[in-house]
Amino acid sequence: MATSTPTFFSNALLAWYPRHRRPLPWRETTDPYAIWLSEIILQQTRVRQGLPYYLKFIERFPTVLDLANAPEDEVLRLWQGLGYYSRARNLHYTAKQVVSEFGGEFPGSYQGLLQLKGVGSYTAAAIASFAYQEPVAVLDGNVYRVLARVFGRHENIAAPASKKIFEEIANAQIPADNPDTYNQAIMEFGAIQCTPVAPDCLFCPLQQECFAFQHGLVNVLPVKEKAKSSRQRFFHYLVLQYENKLYLKKRPGNDIWQGLYDFFSLETDTLHPDPNLFQAQATETLAIPPTPFRSTGKVYKHILSHQKIAAQFYLIPLRFRLREETEESIGIQLYSIEEIEALPKPILIHSFLNEHFF
Ligand code: ADE
Ligand code: SF4
Repeated sequence: MATSTPTFFSNALLAWYPRHRRPLPWRETTDPYAIWLSEIILQQTRVRQGLPYYLKFIERFPTVLDLANAPEDEVLRLWQGLGYYSRARNLHYTAKQVVSEFGGEFPGSYQGLLQLKGVGSYTAAAIASFAYQEPVAVLDGNVYRVLARVFGRHENIAAPASKKIFEEIANAQIPADNPDTYNQAIMEFGAIQCTPVAPDCLFCPLQQECFAFQHGLVNVLPVKEKAKSSRQRFFHYLVLQYENKLYLKKRPGNDIWQGLYDFFSLETDTLHPDPNLFQAQATETLAIPPTPFRSTGKVYKHILSHQKIAAQFYLIPLRFRLREETEESIGIQLYSIEEIEALPKPILIHSFLNEHFF
């Protein structure tokens, strides 16, 4: 259910949005027809390519009745260049459906909108929130990505079962008094700030609260896997040493090795990530000056029931203690070697320590 209580998340997005939003014509309207039209076009193409098509359609067919009454050839002609012509035929069909079954008015609620052909949960939520201020959260690829990263969710977003989980997270964040702006904001945030590759974490207002950022999982989340084969994961452990102590952290509850202790790590999708990107990300997260990292060279492997782990270790002597805020936000603490011996650890961490410290 939607919440009327603002959360750190909705507050941050609502503050971010006015300063970054692209002015787009379908954001200036509450006409469900115009919003529906824009969403169908944007399912087919990106904003930049879709914009001229939207403008042509809305000029030629200002109302759903105009679209319904148009000859099919003309609709297809206007669609030309977008590809996938069955979408254009469905668009036409749905316009006729709105006229014949609903008296020319789009159904006035999320549930009602789902009756329209080609309108699924995403499109219905977009129309209901933008046109009717109904607090239903949209879930598209952008939204999955932002939620998975900020809230540290490892569920496979390609698996149908994950939809409910993400819907619950999303609907717990949407503010009841501002659902339209919130939905636009989260999609825009995913499109501009929290992008699939190289998100702008350095200037991100959610950096402090973002699970993926704080745990070096930005390159890993969201998890999107077609087949459910065993997942290969690559961990890069930064063994931060200060005087005779090492920084370790307790692993969180939403991933493997829950409650065991290991080092601060970055996860990547290859065994050998681009060293520049990797080092920049690490030093940024740790708030330390740029430091070249060298792997100890050995790859430590561990096989779990649905995951294969390959880990590398990087020894990093620090001349200064990390900042307290950094220690806290990442959840790492300094431990002496004797203390570390007594902590519960994954076997792979134990093996590494055995070879280098015990
Ligand atoms: N992509 C899909 N819907 C969108 C919207 N309303 N604004 C910007 N991009 C979008
Ligand atoms: Fe996305 Fe990075 Fe911001 Fe987290 S810190 S929300 S990963 S841009």
